[in-house]
Amino acid sequence: MRIAFVGCGYVFDIYMRTVWAYPEIEISGVYDIDTKRSAVVRRHYGFRVYGDFAELLADAEVDVVVNLTSIRSHVEVTRRALEAGKHVYSEKPLALELGNAQELFRLAASRNLVLTCAPSNVYTDAVRTAWKAVADGAIGKPVLVYAELDDSPAHLMHLESVRSPTGAPFPYEEELQEGCTVEHVGYHLVWLCAMFGPAEAVVAASHWLVHRKTEKDLSPADTPDFSVATLTFANGVSARVTCSWVAPRDHSFRIIGEEGQVSVDNVFHDRSPVFLERFSRASLSARKLRSVRVNPWLGRRFGLGGRRIPLVQQWKSHAVGAERDAGTSVKQRLVSWLRIREVYAQDKLLGVAEMLCAIEEGRSQPLSPEFLLHLNELTLLIQRARSDGISTRPVTSFEPLSLFQEGPLDGGTPDLRESYRARALESLIGRLAGSAHRA
Ligand SMILES: NC(=O)c1ccc[n+]([C@@H]2O[C@H](COP(=O)([O-])OP(=O)(O)OC[C@H]3O[C@@H](n4cnc5c(N)ncnc54)[C@H](O)[C@@H]3O)[C@@H](O)[C@H]2O)c1
Repeated sequence: MRIAFVGCGYVFDIYMRTVWAYPEIEISGVYDIDTKRSAVVRRHYGFRVYGDFAELLADAEVDVVVNLTSIRSHVEVTRRALEAGKHVYSEKPLALELGNAQELFRLAASRNLVLTCAPSNVYTDAVRTAWKAVADGAIGKPVLVYAELDDSPAHLMHLESVRSPTGAPFPYEEELQEGCTVEHVGYHLVWLCAMFGPAEAVVAASHWLVHRKTEKDLSPADTPDFSVATLTFANGVSARVTCSWVAPRDHSFRIIGEEGQVSVDNVFHDRSPVFLERFSRASLSARKLRSVRVNPWLGRRFGLGGRRIPLVQQWKSHAVGAERDAGTSVKQRLVSWLRIREVYAQDKLLGVAEMLCAIEEGRSQPLSPEFLLHLNELTLLIQRARSDGISTRPVTSFEPLSLFQEGPLDGGTPDLRESYRARALESLIGRLAGSAHRA
């Protein structure tokens, strides 16, 4: 199938990092209202640049429009593409009003077209591994989730100077105006709702804490830069999700069960390390010792945080570890290597590829329209909760997903409940720590 990109700013380069791993996807061309930007993209990637959006939409070769425009343009671009008979994959959020998102899905359905959207991290090795551990019963009954999306104090991060590999400026004004929740909470909501079903209740608040994050005057100026939400799922799981542009970077999440916890270091890294800890009196008691808590090496001897578990592989796992940036100088390659190893790595084309596969195989999309509407609603509820807070029941819901049952999971992965045993030393030291606490 052939796709065309609309909007080729900062995130476009991230999509391009893994394009080499998708020989089956044909790119017909790109369009951006900023012609300087599309000229750069033509130079770097050699893509055809459409003169205007109408020309792209009139190209009968284009089956799918990938909408990477600024958030305020999402609805209009998606609507026009659907009206022109194209399937659409949109960056998140689909819309800034739930009514608009509902309207778009109605339009897609009336034309027998597919509409789906990012984030696509639900398909990644890290999320699948955590999900498998939970499904295997490795932590017992899941009951609680702590999910963090702190993206550092924006006012100290020199966001004005950040550039994509082909020189697109990081759109920091838009990021701050739309807010950390609209921009980021979806990365957690997508796997939470995939794993645990629709949220039945939301208690949330969002605040504007740091008033001057940039020299530029923002409009609006008071977009919340911190939000916290507690989501209650039908199966009884409770999740606390935090987003901020205030606290130092933390993209981790923990799923806590009655018998242990699974923790993932970085939701922005598709192959982030995943750890499984089976709780024991020993490891729980050891946490009471200050030296164990403040010294990670010592903590590991006591079993704190558990052990790293092998990552499940999916059909495009090879893409993310070998991302290719546009730059070819030694310095650029070194920076790229460091980023993939230490900071973040995302195969953003994976979501597009999953969409195309489902269309080609004539099956329904992995993420249903109802699921995506629920994500959209939750995002907006949390973002707009403001200081007074909200306690509400979402109006949208969906049939729980059974995403990976039919088999992309690697059959050779061990049953994690069976394979995890506390080491003898871990148990012994833990028992001693327990005694010290009781003494
Ligand atoms: N920046 C990131 O790291 C990042 C990561 C993941 C997702 N996203 C999402 O991707 C989307 C784009 O973000 P970005 O960072 O690339 O922003 P950006 O501002 O760098 O790029 C957006 C591009 O869209 C173009 N555009 C805007 N309206 C258009 C229209 N009507 N028709 C054609 N082109 C239009 C702009 O000229 C610009 O080049 C947003 O939804 C954002 O939330 C961004």
